[in-house]
Amino acid sequence: MSLDQVVEAVVGPVVDPLDPADAAVFRARLERHLPDLRGLLEDLYGARDDFDQSFAAIVETAAVAFAARPADLKALDAARSGEPGWFRSHRMMGGVCYVDRFAGTIDGVCQRISYFEELGLTYLHLMPLYRTPPGGGDGGYAVSSYREVAPHLGTMRDLEVLARDLRARGISLVLDLVFNHTADDHQWAVAAREGDEVYRDFYFMFPDREMPDRYEKTLREIFPDVRRGSFTEVDGDWVWTTFHSYQWDLDYSNPAVFRHMLGEMLFLANVGAEVLRLDAVPFIWKQEGTPSENLPEAHTIIRAFNALVRLAAPAMVFKSEAIVHPDDVLSYLGTGDGDGRECEISYNPLLMVELWEALATGYTALLRHSMDRRFTRNPDGTAWVNYVRGHDDIGWGFADEDADDLGIHGFYHRQYLNRFYTGEEPGSFASGLPFQFNPETLDMRISGTTASLCGLERALEAHDPSAVDAAVGRILLIHSIVLAMGGIPLIFLGDEIGTLNDYTYLDDPDHAADSRWVHRPVFDWARADQRHDAGSIPGRIHGGLQALTAIRTREPAFSAGSSTVVLDVGNPHVFAVVKSVGERRILILGSFVSTPTTIESDQIPWLNAASARDLVTGRAVDPKKDFVLGSYGFAWIALS
Ligand code: GLC
Repeated sequence: MSLDQVVEAVVGPVVDPLDPADAAVFRARLERHLPDLRGLLEDLYGARDDFDQSFAAIVETAAVAFAARPADLKALDAARSGEPGWFRSHRMMGGVCYVDRFAGTIDGVCQRISYFEELGLTYLHLMPLYRTPPGGGDGGYAVSSYREVAPHLGTMRDLEVLARDLRARGISLVLDLVFNHTADDHQWAVAAREGDEVYRDFYFMFPDREMPDRYEKTLREIFPDVRRGSFTEVDGDWVWTTFHSYQWDLDYSNPAVFRHMLGEMLFLANVGAEVLRLDAVPFIWKQEGTPSENLPEAHTIIRAFNALVRLAAPAMVFKSEAIVHPDDVLSYLGTGDGDGRECEISYNPLLMVELWEALATGYTALLRHSMDRRFTRNPDGTAWVNYVRGHDDIGWGFADEDADDLGIHGFYHRQYLNRFYTGEEPGSFASGLPFQFNPETLDMRISGTTASLCGLERALEAHDPSAVDAAVGRILLIHSIVLAMGGIPLIFLGDEIGTLNDYTYLDDPDHAADSRWVHRPVFDWARADQRHDAGSIPGRIHGGLQALTAIRTREPAFSAGSSTVVLDVGNPHVFAVVKSVGERRILILGSFVSTPTTIESDQIPWLNAASARDLVTGRAVDPKKDFVLGSYGFAWIALS
């Protein structure tokens, strides 16, 4: 039998009983994507004797998921086929929260949709909400079952209802696919532990230290505070655990792992996820003698998964979570098309860390240099997710080469930034905490909410109104850049009302050892209730952000497909960019110092504009005059 016949033998019985129009849709997609898919899977598994059967079983999994896909989601698939770049629009606006911390339950989130609408959200990432081991499993990133919601949050049915309600109000649901590892109490891990050979092959399990020692020669430690090395001893076996000891890494060199995870992925697509955040993508392929991060096979796996999503649930896209060297971050965006289609969107950790770097130093040279060099490199058909912070720590992931170009020593600069954000450096305004200090490399990352890292906590403690103004200014400044750069801005919900660090995590034995909980507080609705009081701190921040998002939704120059030119306007404290699409040009300016700073008129590229107006203040700008930015001031100047 030819491979096509093998495929037909599994697909026919699934799609033939469907409505003929549906069956025709699936067959048309097969015709279009099967050759690419086959090439990708051959690269991964082609050398195996059972390749044909594995390939057919993988396609069958996609066909079964297609057959089970609800009609409203199939309609969304059809609509999106006419609008493939939907996630690149300037109207996209993201928010992220923990279900329990934000609203108690999934049903509670449903009751808060109007809060999202007020902020103009079109994208809502709910942090992992699946069943986990007792204690919450790394904030949900240890998944015990991809098909069960954690009981205290609700049910899968509630999630389906929420997805539908959000969609009806123009908000896409974003869920995590934690596919590098499962929790150690996932049924696959339990079977492996009980000695079932099929499931032992799902993981990396070794009877002694020989292989772990060989692998560890070239591995980096991710959670050195938790456990040294990357393996954990379990009942006499050494199991690969990159992160926590209860998160068992899956072995994707086994096609059965690929197929099982595909089933989980398409299940979530059919629940209504429109974006899947692929967790920890760099780690999914391992090879002795390498760091086992960012290997070519990791890309092939995601590309193959993507081709399968095109078959079964094409309205959905992938978002990459790769917190690695900027070149590697970029690589997960693939080529944007064909068999190079990989993750359509990606976190942009570089912009994030360099905004914090510029706030600490008051200088924008590194931010300018890296953005000039790297921001526009994402392929057509993809978009950055721009954010000022997320649920994780801040690790200083700028490229050493970029720093070198400016005479900045990467290692010492990171040490300085760590001192600055833990408040040790003289002149620091920040209240951050250390995360995962590694005594051998001196590497460390930073925890803290946006407001506390921006100085609000200290300013309030000191009862210093001008320091409060500066902190609010910093919060709005960095958000103004994230909103203007192009791509999907993402707000960690709570930041819009200036939420401070929450030190009560130290009282919770499940959280006390993980300082990231300091910036994951329970959402303070009493604080949020002040958001319409323009004189309150929550009101100043929320109002400021709302005004900016409202402008943004009217300006295609802020879409992911617009052009971005980073400028040097002769003032080392200012970040300047021209965003444009067609005739529309908007000059973005932001100052990273607390004192007023001037940009000389002849340094500003007025681009022969007949008129210039700051969209933020609504005021006309005179191109013949120097432009002054106030303390942490910013402007979005439309040139026409
Ligand atoms: C990702 C998550 C992080 C988690 C890790 C392991 O990096 O963002 O919170 O600890 O993956 O799943």
